[in-house]
Amino acid sequence: MVSKVASQKKIKGQVFLPGTVHWLVVSVAINLGLLLKLIHDGHLRMEWSGPNGMPGKENGATLSSLSSYPAEPKQANDGQIQQKLINLDHGDPTMYQSYWKQMGDRTTVVISGWQSVSYFSDTKNLCWFLEPGFANAVTRLHNLVGNAETENQHIVVGTGSTQLFQAVLYALCPSDAPEPMSIVSAAPFYSSYPLITECLKSGLYKWRGDANDFDKDEPYIELVTSPNNPDGSIREAVFNGSGGIVVHDLAYYWPQYTPISSRADYDIMLFTLSKSTGHAGMRLGWALVKDETIAKKMVKFIEISSIGVSKDSQVRAAKILDVISDTYEDAETSNESKPFFDYGYEEMKKRWGQLREAVNKGQSFSLPNLPVGKCNFSNQTFGTQPAFAWVKCEQAVDDCESFLKKHKILTRGGAHFGSSKKYARVSLIGHEDDYNEFIRRFSQINYVESL
Ligand SMILES: Cc1ncc(COP(=O)(O)O)c(C=O)c1O
Repeated sequence: MVSKVASQKKIKGQVFLPGTVHWLVVSVAINLGLLLKLIHDGHLRMEWSGPNGMPGKENGATLSSLSSYPAEPKQANDGQIQQKLINLDHGDPTMYQSYWKQMGDRTTVVISGWQSVSYFSDTKNLCWFLEPGFANAVTRLHNLVGNAETENQHIVVGTGSTQLFQAVLYALCPSDAPEPMSIVSAAPFYSSYPLITECLKSGLYKWRGDANDFDKDEPYIELVTSPNNPDGSIREAVFNGSGGIVVHDLAYYWPQYTPISSRADYDIMLFTLSKSTGHAGMRLGWALVKDETIAKKMVKFIEISSIGVSKDSQVRAAKILDVISDTYEDAETSNESKPFFDYGYEEMKKRWGQLREAVNKGQSFSLPNLPVGKCNFSNQTFGTQPAFAWVKCEQAVDDCESFLKKHKILTRGGAHFGSSKKYARVSLIGHEDDYNEFIRRFSQINYVESL
């Protein structure tokens, strides 16, 4: 008689019965099969699209798997690419990654463990959490490009232009006013403005929508974005009521997007690293503010809400901005590499050329006419080539976003911008592979729908 003990098999010190080994093999085979099926069906691919299309989407969608989004699109064969969802909903500036990659170690910064220990950067500065190196790099770049006056302006740094916008609202709205201050912007306006303004149901301010419809005789703040997100138009304030304050969001007033016609010299100007250099992940923006009291109140808001702004980000950003200036001003650097804005300009020109060609393939879509002007920075005359295209679905399509979604192209519909659903905003600053696939699909749709 074979003893029970002799019929047992030992694997790495563990004892398994023969029946157990059989079931283990079957179970592994079943699980492997299921895993392969899930991968094949695409359920295991990490997509960067939350329930509303995008994490960190300006309309407030959440993100569950941001960290798992690959820095570059996965290679796939033709069949797979056709099935792929192209996400052009958000303005993620990944287009710029290839430029910074080819700059290699020139922008590398080493930050030691002992650095960034204190909350404070410069206690003598009105903005005590502003790194002097970052302030210098901002001033140097504005002076080089000629897009903003920096003399007699206070620099306030923020965690993205998004925090600065909130700081501006806090600074401009009196806490003892009988009614919340009205906040307006001409439609189509940047879709985050109403979301940020209404987020905390503040008693200080209230979103009142399209500035063109605002006719109240009371204090208000008008937000002017120029070039505008979403439609790329060059803008001035539309409402000239008494007691109005204008905030200029100049996120896109850089020479890769639009001719620099003059040095902007407004009371409050907002800029961001996200759309100038493409470093959205550093979460840095800066405001140029003329009035000391307003600048101090903005600083107070940032002190209360986040006790300052990441020093590490400011140090990295200073390096990036200085390298850009070097590619124009330093003979050695400029010989070695293409200057940053030249790269951005060429890339935007190429992408807009591809888009216009695709639109001309049929009658299904149209684009707005954009102004042409002379750029004082590059000395070239060119038409604005914005970071987003404001696409209109012509003919019988009433909902452009849904129409494009059927073709697996994610965009942001006009309603988010206080406009008609016949429009959709398409990002032009994403990864090249995604953009090329979008152009291929978009041309095909246009051609087929127009037959
Ligand atoms: C007009 C405008 N302002 C501000 C922002 C936000 O910038 P940040 O990433 O610095 O918060 C954006 C981003 O899309 C924008 O389009």
